[in-house]
Amino acid sequence: MDLGLKGRKAIVCAASKGLGKGCAEALAREGVDVTICARGADALNATAKAIAATGAKVTPVVCDVTTEAGRKALLAACPNPDILITNAGGPPPGDFKNFTLDDWRKAVEGNMITPIALIHATVYGMVERGFGRIVNITSQTVKAPIASLELSNGARLGLTGAVAVLARKVAGRNVTINGILPGPFATDRLLTNNQRAAEVRKVPVSVVDAERLASIPAGRYGTPAELGAAVAFLCSAHAGFITGQNLLMDGGGFPAAV
Ligand SMILES: NC(=O)c1ccc[n+]([C@@H]2O[C@H](COP(=O)([O-])OP(=O)(O)OC[C@H]3O[C@@H](n4cnc5c(N)ncnc54)[C@H](OP(=O)(O)O)[C@@H]3O)[C@@H](O)[C@H]2O)c1
Repeated sequence: MDLGLKGRKAIVCAASKGLGKGCAEALAREGVDVTICARGADALNATAKAIAATGAKVTPVVCDVTTEAGRKALLAACPNPDILITNAGGPPPGDFKNFTLDDWRKAVEGNMITPIALIHATVYGMVERGFGRIVNITSQTVKAPIASLELSNGARLGLTGAVAVLARKVAGRNVTINGILPGPFATDRLLTNNQRAAEVRKVPVSVVDAERLASIPAGRYGTPAELGAAVAFLCSAHAGFITGQNLLMDGGGFPAAV
């Protein structure tokens, strides 16, 4: 299926690895010019080089997207994107009892304020031009909170609520805003989380891994390419009637009928 995206411009945040990279690759394959960012220059440049080798136009911006200066640099590289994929590293696990107010501020800044700032800077241009696709990469914690991820539960649900009305306000101008809610995907983040859980429980990481896999009806982790393909479809010319939705991708883990 031709997604009708040739020549469109996209900002894909936090995209040197993992889910962001999966989105950048999928959009680039559709002929979208992608501006990607990450803090580490080496991985970002390697990803940019690999995408450019496919013939796509790619602009890497080394920055911390959770800072104002970082977002300014990103928007300077692509001031009028047709597509915005918001993403950043997730907050650390822990327990409510031990989190400081500073921990909460960092989580809210990274996973709620940062996407809101980028949306605010880009959505009105999309409205003016009559086309826009915004996808926020959040988490399955939006549907079902995870005990060890209270910072993530709070910040991501905040973002989801913050854009729910905006999605309806801009829908008449062919601008959509949706969330993608990843369950367990095989990325560095997941491997690190499994490793941490194994250390806390003093068991081999293979035990944590086997338990997690057993809890996923699909019997495996998702891949960044699968998430990228779903995001590319939500950004496509065919998806203008899908907005204000939050699509869970968790291999069937959340046991809901609807
Ligand atoms: N993988 C999962 O199973 C899963 C499930 C639910 C939710 N999520 C969420 O999805 C997001 C992406 O996770 P992932 O699994 O793709 O992680 P990952 O494999 O660790 O990749 C994270 C990417 O984001 C970049 N990044 C992190 N913080 C950044 C910042 N402040 N500014 C710019 N770039 C930044 C990293 O590069 P640098 O470190 O060089 O900046 C890297 O390219 C996270 O918020 C995570 O919590 C993941």
